Parts: sequence; structure tokens; C-alpha cells
Amino acid sequence: MLNRAYSIADLRGQARRRLPRPIFDYIDGGADDELALANNTGAFGRYEIVPDVLNDVSTIRTASTLFGQAVSTPLMLAPTGLTRMFHPGAEDAVARAAARHGLAYALSTMGTTRIEDWASAFAGPRIFQIYVFRDRGLTSEFIQRCKAAGVHGLALTVDTPVAGNRERDHRNGLSLPPRLTLASLAHFAMHPGWSLPALTGRKFDLANVSHRVDALSRRSMSLFDYIGSQFDRSVTWKDVEWLAAEWGGPLSIKGVMTPEDARRAVDCGASGVMLSNHGGRQLDDAPAPVDQIAAVRDRLGDGPEIICDGGVRRGSDLFKALALGANGVSIGRPYLYGLAAGGEAGVDRALSLLLAEFERTLTLAGVNDIAAISPRHVRAAPAGRPA
Ligand code: FNR
Repeated sequence: MLNRAYSIADLRGQARRRLPRPIFDYIDGGADDELALANNTGAFGRYEIVPDVLNDVSTIRTASTLFGQAVSTPLMLAPTGLTRMFHPGAEDAVARAAARHGLAYALSTMGTTRIEDWASAFAGPRIFQIYVFRDRGLTSEFIQRCKAAGVHGLALTVDTPVAGNRERDHRNGLSLPPRLTLASLAHFAMHPGWSLPALTGRKFDLANVSHRVDALSRRSMSLFDYIGSQFDRSVTWKDVEWLAAEWGGPLSIKGVMTPEDARRAVDCGASGVMLSNHGGRQLDDAPAPVDQIAAVRDRLGDGPEIICDGGVRRGSDLFKALALGANGVSIGRPYLYGLAAGGEAGVDRALSLLLAEFERTLTLAGVNDIAAISPRHVRAAPAGRPA
């Protein structure tokens, strides 16, 4: 079935059929009216690629670096929480596929595999997505664990002082971890391919934080309530300075959207920024990250790393982001659709499709090395171009 998926959209269709509705919607959905979600992808469609012809494109070079590490292509797998909920292969399956393709992969704080286990199993460039928690001890602990486990870079997520308003989840009564309620029973029973492994497999857990609930909270509190209570609305640039000094390695601030904040991030010690609106899951009226690249590059100059995160569904989107001035892109849902559709082989399919599309785009654009992609290869499409 996977070999009949010819695009990320096809894999999304397969994921939708395989997963119980509440689980699919958790991956697929966005905040409020889902404007940012649609616009993230739509915005890529508002750029055209302006090709060169008659260059020798018999070999195409896509290699680059992200977070100071060599990658086969600057397409990173974004951090996503609760991964085991989508397929029992969880982060291990994603890591194997990412390593096979020579790509960087970020483990989420809300992930379902311990940093140490993930890092020893994943040979590729290892990024850990971190939050500054109310309990600074927890953040410090993460930094130490990342250093000990050989993590190469940190991505500090800053667009989540509160959870976005994900109405699909409210309507579906999604509980975390998923529980068999009377209302959800039908969804789960109709999708035994997901439900049986999920209900009988390894216990679903926020593997990196579960030990702290007992350590810190004498009260009885669920893991999820605990984490919710740990999001800290008082985090500021001072905390970025602290984190950058404490970590001392490559650090990207994920969720920056403006040239001013990007400049400030770098001034506070970050090595780069991930332009992101959390895949349209937080502020619904936020701009599309791809539309912010050129202005942010202009403000930062050549050095700092810019990763455009959100809405990438085609290899040509990576080409556009690079032409606008980004060093790379990251993807969330595209690999999760693959994971849900077919575990490791599904992630593999998603990555193979995107990488083949990217290479084909370079070939058709007459560019044989990604280092030669330049702003003249992209322009705003005239009004009326179908997106
Ligand atoms: C996310 N994202 C996310 N980001 C983060 O910093 N920490 C996290 O735990 C999660 N969890 C998460 C779960 C799911 C199901 C999704 C879809 C997304 C956001 C993610 O890192 C990335 O910013 C977006 O997914 C990028 O948008 P696309 O590629 O999904 O359009």
C-alpha cells in the first residue's frame, strides 16, 4: 500500500484510514479556525521557481550542515510529542528512517522514548527540543542528560506559553493518554490495526519527564497535568541567555517569527532560529514561516542558521525556502503521516518522496548544487496562480 503513495497527501489519506479519528485529528489539526495551518502550506504555493536551463545537471549535490552537523539534505524531522500514540514503533522507527537518509531528527521533550535510548539508537544528527520549565531544575537536568547522551543541538520552543485551542481535540474528547470511553469506543473498534498494538503494546508514557512527577509532586497528579502545570508564562530572553551559557552548543530558538526577535535570539547566544508557528497549532493568526524568511535573513546577515518550519509538503518547498535565505526546513506532519500509515517503512516512504522531489526540482531548475540556489530562483507568483 505504501508504494501506492506518490505524495505526502497520499500518505495523509492512508494515515486517516488507519488511525482512529481522535488520533488522526490530533496530528492533522490546528488551532481555532485552522487558518495558519492552511496558510503555512498555501504560502509556499504563492512563490514560483524561476529555472535556469542548459546547466549540467547529471549529478546533483544536496549535502549541507544543520546544527553544525553534516546532513545529506537540510530537511530536518521536527520534534513531535506523543509519537508512540501514532505507531508502536514510535521514535525508534522514525530514527531508523532518518538515519538511513542521513537527516537530522529532533526528539521532543514530550516524546515517548528516553533521551538516552534515543541517542544511542540514532546515529544521525541529534537535536533535543527543550522547554524552559517552571521547575528550572528539570530544564538543567535535560541539559546535563543531553550532554551526557551526545546530543548535538538544542531547539528551545518558545511559542507555547499556553496550549493552543485545538477544537478538533475538544470535539473528539481526546484524552491523554487515550482512554477507551464509550464515545471513543466506536472509533477505536473500527481501527483494529491501530488499536490492538496500541492497547496491548508498551505502556504509553512521557518517558523523559515521568520520573519527575514522583520526585517533585507529593500530591497525586497525572503526568499530563504535571506537564501542563510546568509551562511557564514568565520565560523571557534572560532565560535564553541562561540556557545558551549552560548548554554551550548549537541552540536554535523555535517559534521566532520576526527579524527583531531573530536578532535578539542571536544576541542572547543562540546559533539560529526556527521560524515556526508550531505547525498552526498555537496562534492561529500568525504569519506563514516561509513568508518571514527573507526579512529575517536580511536582518541576521549570513552567519546564523535559519530553519523554516511548517507547511512543507513537497520537495520544491525546500528549494523555495533555501532560495529565500533559509539554511533548511523541518517537517512534522509529513513524517507522522508516514509513521501512522506504515511505521518505519511509512516514514521511509515520506522521506524518499520528499528527497526525490527536491532532487528533481533542482534538476528541473538547472541547479546542480544547493549552494548555488539563490534569491533569483524564486519570485512571488502573480495574483491568480493556483496554489
Ligand atoms: C508538534 N510540534 C511540536 N513542537 C514542539 O516544539 N514540541 C512538541 O512536542 C511538538 N509536538 C507536536 C505534535 C504534533 C502531532 C505535531 C503535528 C506537531 C510542532 C512541530 O515541531 C513542527 O513545528 C510542526 O509540525 C511543523 O509543521 P508541519 O510540518 O507539521 O506543517
